[in-house]
Amino acid sequence: MDPKRLIADAKSIVVLTGAGISAESGIPTFRGAGGLWRQFRPEDLATPGAFARDPKLVWEWYDWRRELVAQAQPNAGHKALVAIAAGKEAFTLITQNVDDLHERAGSQNVLHVHGSIFAEPCTRCGHRYSALKEHRCAACGSLTRPGVVWFGEMPPEDVWAMAETAVRNAGLLLVVGTSAQVYPAAGLIDLARASGSKVIEVNPDQTPFSHAVDISERGPAGEVLPRWVEGI
Ligand code: OAD
Ligand code: ZN
Repeated sequence: MDPKRLIADAKSIVVLTGAGISAESGIPTFRGAGGLWRQFRPEDLATPGAFARDPKLVWEWYDWRRELVAQAQPNAGHKALVAIAAGKEAFTLITQNVDDLHERAGSQNVLHVHGSIFAEPCTRCGHRYSALKEHRCAACGSLTRPGVVWFGEMPPEDVWAMAETAVRNAGLLLVVGTSAQVYPAAGLIDLARASGSKVIEVNPDQTPFSHAVDISERGPAGEVLPRWVEGI
């Protein structure tokens, strides 16, 4: 099966991305060589309990990551997905990434199942802000939190419902740059297979799904994806 052909012929495509698609933009992934979870413990930084214990530490970490994202630029992988979307009857981009590189590359209606690093809801009144410096709610004075989904939390219901519906109706799921170890996001791959859609994976390394997908393409997203859109 030729991936380029599959992509060109599919009427309805869903893409699921993970940290790997932003790796070539200089944003560290979580697992694997150079991954954030090699350097930091998720239970100290990315759980509701961690934030309750030490909000200052958690905010310092997210402020640092905001800075990394702000300095990064979308890469050829992000851009190729914009080209793949063009001309499709239905196209949905689901990302586990909290960065905004898909949007800055030109993708629209991105479903952020793990939230956004620039979103900042108040922990008390729920008012939503965008990237404050002081992390205090102007309406009620309470502490704000990063607008991301932490371990032990579930994706926003509306976003998740849209993601599931899109996957159920997809003819083709493209899985790019995710270790596919974090649920429920990784479950979308099984859902696609159960719904009868073809699945193509792009990753330099093997994942738990590599043997279950129709095509497992080993390589960096910024090299593989542009090859598949050449001439379309
Ligand atoms: P991971 O860091 O777990 O996995 C990144 C994947 O990208 C790995 O499988 C790498 O092999 C692959 N990769 C590395 N460079 C790549 C490249 N240039 N092109 C394509 N793939 C590449 O990141 P996610 O799967 O996104 O959640 O992690 C899922 C969730 O776990 C994250 O959203 C985050 C994390 O903990 C929370 O913080 C709650
Ligand atoms: Zn408030």
